[in-house]
Amino acid sequence: MGLPRSLVMLILPMCCLFLADSVMVRSADTGSSMRSLDAFLQEYAYQALVNPKTGVPYDAAAPSNLTGISIRAMRLRSGSFRRYGVDSFKEFEIPTGVIVRPYVERLVLVYQNLGNWSEEYYALPGYTYLAPVLGLLAYNASNLSATNLPELEMRASGDPIHVKFDNVKSLPDGTVAKCVWFNLEGKANFSSVESGNTCSTIQHGHFSIVVESIAPSPTPLSPPGTVIPNAPPPPSKKENNTRVWIIVGSVLGGALLLVLVSLLILWLRKLKQRNKMDQMERAAESGEPLQMAIVGDTKAPTATVTRTQPTLETEYVP
Ligand SMILES: *[C@@H]1O[C@H](CO)[C@@H](O)[C@H](O)[C@H]1NC(C)=O
Ligand SMILES: *[C@@H]1O[C@H](CO)[C@@H](O)[C@H](O)[C@H]1NC(C)=O
Ligand SMILES: *[C@@H]1O[C@H](CO)[C@@H](O)[C@H](O)[C@H]1NC(C)=O
Ligand SMILES: *[C@@H]1O[C@H](CO)[C@@H](O)[C@H](O)[C@H]1NC(C)=O
Ligand SMILES: *[C@@H]1O[C@H](CO)[C@@H](O)[C@H](O)[C@H]1NC(C)=O
Repeated sequence: MGLPRSLVMLILPMCCLFLADSVMVRSADTGSSMRSLDAFLQEYAYQALVNPKTGVPYDAAAPSNLTGISIRAMRLRSGSFRRYGVDSFKEFEIPTGVIVRPYVERLVLVYQNLGNWSEEYYALPGYTYLAPVLGLLAYNASNLSATNLPELEMRASGDPIHVKFDNVKSLPDGTVAKCVWFNLEGKANFSSVESGNTCSTIQHGHFSIVVESIAPSPTPLSPPGTVIPNAPPPPSKKENNTRVWIIVGSVLGGALLLVLVSLLILWLRKLKQRNKMDQMERAAESGEPLQMAIVGDTKAPTATVTRTQPTLETEYVP
């Protein structure tokens, strides 16, 4: 009986793992790709800082396989950053009173504009981007050749940081735009748009303006010849592929689970049958305790009803 239980213990968690796997694929995948993109862009941003002047922005070249992304870096003393803020760091307006933790003497502000890569890295199912995803992150400036630096926490203690988006795409009729903020784990949180193109934040992360996609067909109907200013960008091929793979994975995982469970049930049934047979055999070997009666001078088994010979179920041949 030791074997069956251990086998069940082995098979059940396996089934659960398969299920969990197919559900988790997407979030785990995008979460880690955002983190590696941040690390990659930090490295590129720092490469633009060769003997940098304090408080002067430097545009960095995007890596060639990420054309369309722009990055900017600026080194600051953290004391003056807190005291004066930064009037305009591309779309970001950083007020006074923004505190960076843990304390560093100098920091590098890194700006990211993910451009046409926004949906690739920050896929937000059910929403359409009206502006690119912009990132504002801070790092320790002590070693400008350091890589894989952890982000510093940036928090506004007074006024919030404003993000004024340029060229927000116009809205489909009857819809409301929302600001979206992604924390470093890629978790999205929404807030309202101010003055048509501005989002507020009290901390670092990634920001954009989105609108809920119109459910069945996201492409609005329009008379021929008109330009659709707010047509959602077509989903990228890679994105579609990911979706297809997730569906295929889920279906395969489900089928595999079904097979495993069926096998388990079949196996348990067989086991039960075998146990029954074992019992019967054991009973036959040890001799069933039959009621005995004295008939004349011989002992003979008695039964209340006529007994048929015990037959093993599996030995029936129909
Ligand atoms: C771009 O190339 C680098 C290596 O130079 C690689 O680590 C990174 O994953 C690539 N990114 C994409 C999106 O292909
Ligand atoms: C973004 O545009 C550039 C060219 O401007 C192109 O090389 C790149 O593949 C595009 N990225 C995506 C995700 O389509
Ligand atoms: C910043 O980097 C310097 C040099 O690498 C290091 O000594 C210091 O501990 C770092 N500060 C923080 C807060 O990580
Ligand atoms: C700066 O970082 C680079 C790369 O990690 C390392 O090789 C170098 O020793 C560091 N310098 C200092 C002064 O910590
Ligand atoms: C997300 O937004 C809601 C409502 O705006 C807010 O109550 C909540 O604290 C936010 N979550 C985080 C992690 O900031």
